[in-house]
Formats: sequence, C-alpha cells, structure tokens
Amino acid sequence: MKAVAVVPAKKELRLVDHPMPQINGGNQIKVQTLDVGICGTDREICTFVYGSPPEGDDYLVLGHESLGRVVEVGDSVTRLKIGDLVVPSVRRPCSDPNCNPCCNDKQDYCINGQFTERGIKEVHGFMTEYYVDDEKYFTRVPEDLRELAVMAEPLTIAEKGLAQAYAVQQRLPWACTEPGKPKGHGLRAVVLGAGPIGILGAMKCVIEGFDTYVYSRSKAPNPKAALVEQIGAKYFSKYDISPQELAEEVGNIDLVYEAVGGSEVAFDVLQVLGTNGIFVFTGIPAPETRLEIDSDILMRRIVLENLAIVGTVNADRQAFEDAIADLAEFKKRWPETIKGVISGRFSVDDHEELLVGKSQGIKNVIAFS
Ligand code: BGC
Ligand code: ZN
Repeated sequence: MKAVAVVPAKKELRLVDHPMPQINGGNQIKVQTLDVGICGTDREICTFVYGSPPEGDDYLVLGHESLGRVVEVGDSVTRLKIGDLVVPSVRRPCSDPNCNPCCNDKQDYCINGQFTERGIKEVHGFMTEYYVDDEKYFTRVPEDLRELAVMAEPLTIAEKGLAQAYAVQQRLPWACTEPGKPKGHGLRAVVLGAGPIGILGAMKCVIEGFDTYVYSRSKAPNPKAALVEQIGAKYFSKYDISPQELAEEVGNIDLVYEAVGGSEVAFDVLQVLGTNGIFVFTGIPAPETRLEIDSDILMRRIVLENLAIVGTVNADRQAFEDAIADLAEFKKRWPETIKGVISGRFSVDDHEELLVGKSQGIKNVIAFS
C-alpha cells in the first residue's frame, strides 16, 4: 500500500510501500482510509523534532486525524459493522499494570510517558490506504457527516478542554447549571489563535453559549476573521489591540482557550484572565522562547482571584462522541462555514507540499478514496 512516512534517521519524508495490515484478534477491525487531516504536529514531525517509528521499523507512517470505512470485522466485534464510517482515536495505553489511567481507558492521562500515539509515537499512523486496530478505539460517524468527520480529532482537543473547564467550575455551584441554558450561558470566552484548533474551539464555545472572542495574529479583514464573524464570535488581531484592551472590550474573561502554540501571546493574555477565570492550554511550543513576566503580580492575581490554569492533551472516548455530536450541530447551524474550515482536499501525491511547503489555508486534507 501507499503510505506517507518519515525516516527520522535520514531526515527524509517519503512515500513508502507499506504492508497491508491484517486483522489478528477477534476485537479488531480493518478500515479503509477516506480522509486524513494534516496538522501542525505532522508538519513538526517533518522537521524531525519528534516522531518515532515503531520498534524494528526505520520509518513512521504519519497521520493521526482520520476518517475511514470499516471493511472487515473480527469475530468478537459487537459495536461496529462493515460499511460503517468511523474515526479512530490517537493514543494507545502503556503496558504498565500500575498505570491507573491506562488501565482505565484514560491513556490521555498516562503517568509514565510510555503510551504510544498513532502517527506520532512508536505506532504507524493513518496516512495510508488501510489500517487495523481494536474496535474500542473507534467512534461511529453518521453518514451525513462524511464530508466533515475528518475534523473530529482536532475538535476533541476542545471537547476535552471544555470538559476540564466545567470540572473546575463545579467549584461555583451555580455555574454551568442554569436550567434550559447551555453551560457557557452568561460567560465570556477568549480563544487564542484562528487555526483549525482555534476555529473549532470557537465554534464549540459559541454552541456552549459563551460570548466568544477570537484573538489572533493576522489583521482583519482576512478569511479566518470572516469565518469567525460568521459564527457570531468577534475577531481581534493582536496587532490592533493589546491584551489589556482586549480585556476591556470583553469584560471579565471567564475562559481562555489557548490554541496558538506559542507561549508569548498565551502568557500576555493569562495576565488579563478575569476573576475566577480558567485558562486552558493546548499548545505544545518548541522550547525556544524565554519571557520576562510580572510574576509577582501574576501570582497575586492567581491567588486573590482564584485563577485556574489547566493543561490538556489528547482526548478520551467521550470527547470523540461529543465531537461527532457537535460536528452535527455545527453543520446544522453553519453549513457553509463548517465546510469552509476544510480549505482543500488533495491527493496523496501532494503530500510534500502539504507537509513541508508553505503552510496555507486552515485544515488541509488528503483524500485517499
Ligand atoms: C494530537 C493529540 C496528541 C498530541 C501530542 C496532537 O496533535 O491531536 O492527539 O496527543 O498531538 O502528541
Ligand atoms: Zn493533530
């Protein structure tokens, strides 16, 4: 089969001939790849800062954002059947019997770093024609989300992030619970960044009822700002207003959902997080920037105003279920806008341009069939 892979030892990105996987074990399914999303992580793996092949292989097949169709099922598969559309999760548990998270299907909280991740860490990814995995790692997708469901995985980052925020806000018993109202009703969210993680996160904040603001780099007007306005959120460029001015514009910032990756903007905005606010970090910067910050002032505010700072990585099964449900909601509310988040569908032959060329558009997808 054709597969897009990196060979870290040679610092190469290439098309490889990858063996057709076989089901071995009753609870596995075999999936034919339809779409694979390209993300910042894939592009970083192509700069060889991380990304490791499985033991015994010199290459790693890329791709962790996939939509596929079930073509074969093992004897003990119960939830899925041939023909179903499915999205796979990314992370697989470690084998340590003392790792509580991994033993409880919560490998996103693995305690020892020995987890693996498809297309990222020690297991091949989905940028190939077929793949096999255990049924439990898949979420079924309704047929009418065929064109959108490749965005499920990046949306799970926001799903888990908001689940964390709500868990923290249980500390305010009246928050998130007004009957008949979505959980963010009456609250204000700032999303940092207008890449796919930011835009999907902003959509999630809007349907959750938050008054939503996106703070990003490019000056408006630009296509991402237009998309943000279409969903009823407000867009501000960091070149037009400072974080202080942003806070004046917004009012008390109850939630920041960081999706810029860089620490500079993130820490600037952390300093204007509102009273009792929650800051959710999702970016994984390369260790380059060192900042000078007003650390005493920030620490005082964290204490005196009950600020909560939460990091979140990867996602669990529930986050995938929620992402599929929310994609359906996005489609209902903003059918054209959500389609527009996918900036292009390309052939596997375009992989080089997509992975190491100039970064363009929002979410680019390789269509395999
Ligand atoms: C993926 C996550 C993964 C993380 C760290 C992200 O791009 O969406 O699933 O856990 O990279 O490897
Ligand atoms: Zn990704």
